[in-house]
Amino acid sequence: MIAAFNASIHFDIALIEYDLTGSQAHVQMLAHSGIISQAEADAIDQGLEAIRQEYRQGQFQPGIEAEDIHFAVENRLIELIGDTGKKLHTGRSRNDQVGTDLRLYLHDQILQVQTLIRNWQQALVILASDHVQTLIPGYTHLQRAQPISLAHHLLAYFEMAERDWQRLREIDRRVNVSPLGLGALAGTPFPIDRQYTADKLGFADLYRNSLDGVSDRDFAIEFLCAASLIMVHLSRFSEEVILWASEEFGFIKLKDSCATGSSIMPQKKNPDVPELVRGKSGRVFGHLQSLLVVMKGLPLAYNKDLQEDKEAIFDGVTTIKACLEAMTILVAEGLEFQTPRLESAVGEDFSNATDVADYLSKQGVPFREAYNIVGAVVKTCLSQNKLLKDLTLEEWQQFHPQFADDIYSAISPRQVVAVRNSFGGTGFTQVQNALEQAKTLLSQSK
Ligand code: ARG
Repeated sequence: MIAAFNASIHFDIALIEYDLTGSQAHVQMLAHSGIISQAEADAIDQGLEAIRQEYRQGQFQPGIEAEDIHFAVENRLIELIGDTGKKLHTGRSRNDQVGTDLRLYLHDQILQVQTLIRNWQQALVILASDHVQTLIPGYTHLQRAQPISLAHHLLAYFEMAERDWQRLREIDRRVNVSPLGLGALAGTPFPIDRQYTADKLGFADLYRNSLDGVSDRDFAIEFLCAASLIMVHLSRFSEEVILWASEEFGFIKLKDSCATGSSIMPQKKNPDVPELVRGKSGRVFGHLQSLLVVMKGLPLAYNKDLQEDKEAIFDGVTTIKACLEAMTILVAEGLEFQTPRLESAVGEDFSNATDVADYLSKQGVPFREAYNIVGAVVKTCLSQNKLLKDLTLEEWQQFHPQFADDIYSAISPRQVVAVRNSFGGTGFTQVQNALEQAKTLLSQSK
């Protein structure tokens, strides 16, 4: 029972390729530093490579008797090449070894996640390109506020994704630091060369304090924090898609490939993909929380509690990758915007009321006064069951003599959007510029 309780092999097998690569670098360093002979290093190196091939062919399946991936590899190496294999672990400990593996793994995964973020951004940009001129109600407090360009709405998610990408790049600077050679906690008496292994493994920096290096998991917490924010963003988009697909909004229809039916209600088309993404955000936040709690009471240096970091990190990685991929497909091919419905949605409310006030203030009426006048106009319209566009010019002029014929074009939804041409606004020129910049960014980052 205790052996099984101690074991991590059932999940840290995911680190095997990194463990092998780390050991190969270590053993070459041992030879380079004159700690073992070059012949011994080469024998070990080849043995490790043989294990890699066994693993890739499905022939290396260590059980819990090995405890963890590090022992599993070392035991197999000794089986394969004999006593020379026993020299592999000279001048290091599993504590610096597992830290090395985790960092190599996470660095690799961060690059993969960044690519998936780029794909997600690409899908948003392609969809946005078709919808610069499509109008959609913009909301605050989930109340209709002002009409906006649909592309502007989609590009808001592009911006969030861009921060996610940048954040990962910044975090990667702290992931990509080598603890290899720090030993169990205090360094090693062997004349090792930590810079040599760091260079061989592509690490950009070295931990400077052995106690810190073997027990630091800040980089993993930072990663889970970035992963949580990715999930926040995907979940917000999901929530909008779910709302938009409802009968009440009717802004989009989901294509069959991205929706499922109900087992008992034949009329239903359920937005499973965004619902799952929204739901899965909880587990990523949970992993962040669990790692924070694992860390907060740990005395220096390594403690076995740290073995609990792995499943949180692995599942965090798997979850965000799956969610990014699913959402990319959803945006690329799953959404059909119902343009007639959107067209009528932006024309059937008072979301152009601010523009009436802006109209008057451009004629010199102080904004607050104009605002109060429009309040009265809207009140009258509501009592007569009319929209602003239904008022006759005479009726407009009863509220203020400066209303003229051009009030109708000033309050048309398309005009209302077009004039919001301040930097970062929804005006078509701004949106077109933002779209071009997004495309440039994507083409340059390839
Ligand atoms: N399986 C262990 C972990 O995941 C490896 C390090 C074990 N070190 C030790 N001193 N028990 O953290």
